[in-house]
Amino acid sequence: MSDHGPVDVDHSSEAVFAIDGDGRRWVRKKMLFTGWQPILAESLGWLISREIGVRAPVGAVCGSGDELSWLSAYVPHALHWQRNYVHFVRNIDEFGAMLTLDALLYNADRHAKNILLVPEQGEEELIAWSIDVGNALVGHPQDFMELGLRVPEKPNSARGLPIDLMRVGAFAAAQQASKLAGTPRLERYVAEACAIVGEGTAPLLLEAISRRMERAGDLVEEYLKILEGFP
Ligand SMILES: Nc1ncnc2c1ncn2[C@@H]1O[C@H](COP(=O)(O)OP(=O)(O)OP(=O)(O)O)[C@@H](O)[C@H]1O
Ligand SMILES: [Mg+2]
Repeated sequence: MSDHGPVDVDHSSEAVFAIDGDGRRWVRKKMLFTGWQPILAESLGWLISREIGVRAPVGAVCGSGDELSWLSAYVPHALHWQRNYVHFVRNIDEFGAMLTLDALLYNADRHAKNILLVPEQGEEELIAWSIDVGNALVGHPQDFMELGLRVPEKPNSARGLPIDLMRVGAFAAAQQASKLAGTPRLERYVAEACAIVGEGTAPLLLEAISRRMERAGDLVEEYLKILEGFP
């Protein structure tokens, strides 16, 4: 794995471009700069994303010690969210599922640069991708356990999201999430993500995330109400 300088947007956790031995390109965030919490949040968030229908780049971890890193497969030609692109988004249900992910993980950090819009066959077909759930509270198991069923009240959310259109996908994702609650599969995911960072609270974290997933529909209902209040 070789590093190739910082990504060319304002960013807070020293994300760099990296290329692996097979020539694949990644965006890499090192534990040395982020601490272990974002790596836990990214790992578990990515596993859950796939289960509930959120479009996210392939994720991976590499390295050990301070070099332990979260890797997000580089998506070429990506734009950041802008409200004037709203009519071009083609995967509106996957986009809605992103809000469910944020409600479940308590990810308040869904600003415009954490939503990639990738042109597909021409500029007028855009696919929305979720990146960067590193700041989600799920990465802080102790605080996450104390959350109960609360969702972010004042999220740093991208403006102009088509909440009405995203609603169907959000609730479909909530249903997927509620099916995953309490399953051995979810237990494996939580254990795996905790093992990556050497976090010992997997059973408690599993209980907390499971409880939220069982009630995913309620969480989404509440979270959409909050987002609707945003201009
Ligand atoms: N897989 C990817 N493909 C293409 N671009 C990406 C990818 N991952 C990240 N980026 C770009 O790099 C930027 C920074 O990455 P990321 O959001 O993961 O880092 P961060 O430092 O945690 O950001 P923040 O400022 O939101 O905390 C993103 O806004 C995006 O422009
Ligand atoms: Mg970001």
